[in-house]
Amino acid sequence: MLDPALASAVPGGVLVVDFGAQYAQLIARRIRECRVFSAVVPHDITPEEIAALHPSGLVLSGGPASVYEPGAPALNPAFLELGVPVLGICYGLQAMTLALGGEVARTGAGEFGKTPIEVTNRESLFRELDAEVCWMSHRDAVSRAPEGFTVTARSTDAPVAAMEHPGKGMYGVQFHPEVVHTPFGTDLLKAFLFDVCDCTPTWTPVHVIEDQVARIRAQVGDERVICALSGGVDSAVAALLVHRAVGDKLTCIFVDHGMLRHGEGDQVEEAFGEHFHVPLVHVRAQEHFLSHLAGVTDPEEKRKIIGREFIRTFESESAKLGGVRYLVQGTLYSDVIESGSRTAAKIKSHHNVGGLPEDMTVELVEPLRQLFKDEVRVVGEELGLPERMVWRQPFPGPGLAIRIIGEVTAERLEILRSADFVLQEEIRRAGLYRELWQSFAVLPAVKSVGVQGDERTYAYPIVIRAVTSDDAMTADWARLPYDLLERISNRIINEVPGVNRVVLDITSKPPGTIEWE
Ligand code: XMP
Repeated sequence: MLDPALASAVPGGVLVVDFGAQYAQLIARRIRECRVFSAVVPHDITPEEIAALHPSGLVLSGGPASVYEPGAPALNPAFLELGVPVLGICYGLQAMTLALGGEVARTGAGEFGKTPIEVTNRESLFRELDAEVCWMSHRDAVSRAPEGFTVTARSTDAPVAAMEHPGKGMYGVQFHPEVVHTPFGTDLLKAFLFDVCDCTPTWTPVHVIEDQVARIRAQVGDERVICALSGGVDSAVAALLVHRAVGDKLTCIFVDHGMLRHGEGDQVEEAFGEHFHVPLVHVRAQEHFLSHLAGVTDPEEKRKIIGREFIRTFESESAKLGGVRYLVQGTLYSDVIESGSRTAAKIKSHHNVGGLPEDMTVELVEPLRQLFKDEVRVVGEELGLPERMVWRQPFPGPGLAIRIIGEVTAERLEILRSADFVLQEEIRRAGLYRELWQSFAVLPAVKSVGVQGDERTYAYPIVIRAVTSDDAMTADWARLPYDLLERISNRIINEVPGVNRVVLDITSKPPGTIEWE
């Protein structure tokens, strides 16, 4: 069954039945952007389970290449008899067509990318839509709509690019309304949500706050709770929600491993300790981590050491608190969907920094399990988290240790931290911080010759790395303005002793990775 926390939000919302493509998540996000709650459910959910959730509508997502592929996920025809409006998208359209007695043909041609579309019937979902181009990704195509359906749009290779049977509340489109390359896509989803399903656009991520606070209280009762803060938005928002629910029964542990950027430890201290008055254990373990990293140059070895020492530190600090039964984790809805879990996970084996101990006998509190990342930010703003934390770019758990190429030393950390500070400040001043997925400095531990004043220098270079990305799976190097690059370069050379050269990384991912290690 669906997460109870999610299930309670579904009545009035829309379920996206996942046929195995990455599109399901995106569809749910788009629906939520229309202020209607949406959750992703696996295609093998039972009709009874769906009925018990009382959704206002069902969307059948895209999926594998062909409905004829061996093992292709089947559509349970009973989903179409629940009296709930249905929108089939791509594979969802084809599966629906087959279930209702229409025909799907292997056209052999297929359409991929931006495709012209012709609306053939305006007395339809397309009534008010300016639909000329859509985004397609299919090989098979519906060649005959099921009986009683009206074909409402076509394209060159999809004679049934859209069809509907308003009497039965059934709709289908071959293209992908959820991707931005279908310009009228959101409007089409809105037409389905509001004209067909009669949804009301009232849901916002902030709704989750009250619901979660009540749930956390019920889960935790009078027990002690701990949360590891990383300085990132997820753990911060999760901690604040739990604090709102149980107050001082929550203790946050912030392990400063010394690989953080300038001022980050202070920010956490200020926000949590001073502003929100959350009991906070600030562990200053810089020297401990540095001594374990001495002489280590291999990136994976660095990660392992930091992960291991993080766990040790966290464990010994939580042991000092005694009698802790609950651990807060900032698990997001995308993690829940990706791990395919149908019920609340027990201990998660990985953590932002390394891994939490497998044998830790604590139960997880995961107040963000319903939310996508951008929704977590909205909740963070609502809870009063400082803008810097809400909008912080992703930062790897091992921190600056994997941005020093070579051995990590106190001196190199200091140089990198200062250079990175200048870079961040200039990127923010230029108004580019939120546009970039990540922007940071890297210090390769090689030295080159330069000249400053009348003196020959022999010092480190700093690499500027700035990328745009949607999900870190792929990334493009950011085209930063030359005058900004010049300012960054001048300031780093002038303000950071030990650096005599600034270079720009112009590698995309692939073939590069975002980080240098
Ligand atoms: P790469 O370098 O693989 O990075 O393109 C993709 C994204 O993952 C982040 N990253 C990490 N995050 N621990 C983390 O918590 C790590 O060891 C780690 N390595 C990379 C990276 O910053 C980027 O956002």
